[in-house]
Amino acid sequence: MRAYELTKEQIKDYDRKYNLHSWSANGNLDPLVITKAEGIYFWDADGKRYFDMSSQLVNSNIGHGNKKVIEAIKAQAERLAYIAPSYAVDVRSELARRIVEIAPDNMGKVFFTLGGADANENAVKMARMYTGRYKVFSRYRSYHGSTMGAGNITGEPRRFACEPGLVGYVKFFDPYLYRSGIDFSSEEEASRYYVDKLREQIIYEDPSSIAAIVLETVTGSNGVIIPPKGYLEGVRKICDEFGIMMICDEVMVGWGRTGEYFAINNWNVKPDMITFAKGITCGYAPLGKTGGNPL
Ligand SMILES: Cc1ncc(COP(=O)(O)O)c(C=O)c1O
Repeated sequence: MRAYELTKEQIKDYDRKYNLHSWSANGNLDPLVITKAEGIYFWDADGKRYFDMSSQLVNSNIGHGNKKVIEAIKAQAERLAYIAPSYAVDVRSELARRIVEIAPDNMGKVFFTLGGADANENAVKMARMYTGRYKVFSRYRSYHGSTMGAGNITGEPRRFACEPGLVGYVKFFDPYLYRSGIDFSSEEEASRYYVDKLREQIIYEDPSSIAAIVLETVTGSNGVIIPPKGYLEGVRKICDEFGIMMICDEVMVGWGRTGEYFAINNWNVKPDMITFAKGITCGYAPLGKTGGNPL
């Protein structure tokens, strides 16, 4: 039973009057009115059915209306909907234990957040506290969230709304071979080129001031850029050489998107921290996470 009934026209009218939509010039928006979703489909107010080919924001990994998840949410809401962070509760203890069990074996603890940007904000704060350094390296073709800190880690134009930027947030180029303009003879050669450039940039920025390198394990919304062979290993080596923390943002590619629970498990590389959100709850509830080695 619904507490209110709105017509299609009212939904659209109230939306245009009272809602702000993200990442859109709101003036001329004409959003489709959606009324239900199930499995891989969703329906508009005229009953037209759509395939959800993008899993919404690449997050509905198990599809819409999953009964098992809905029943579990209802049961938990009845038993205990909220408890302050200082207490220990079964669901948080058990979920953290299970995550650490399937994460790379250097991962120690889990810090739960409400989403991906929030997870990245916390990862950077932790890296700064742990290393006592302040600079943060991240790549141009990247999206890490839209809050002030995550927006400054982000390299693509969605960061412009957060500028003038935070002090010490430095950008470097991704190994995007398709648009590199350089005719590399192999993936390994390309990796060597980009890793050497990164190392040079780090030296010019003073390695002893750099807390973290943040990168999407596989770049998502900026082109699905799969790292060439040897690239992630090369970044790991630089981090080890200079005591910099390697933070892999798996908000989009975590939770099965690449065939592994964590995309980094496709390589023999262990980051110091992994952040994720999206697929962990598939949009049924807000949740993100920062997990790490030194935590
Ligand atoms: C790689 C990556 N990091 C971070 C985020 C931000 O996550 P959230 O929207 O949950 O804050 C996104 C969202 O699309 C993302 O794709």
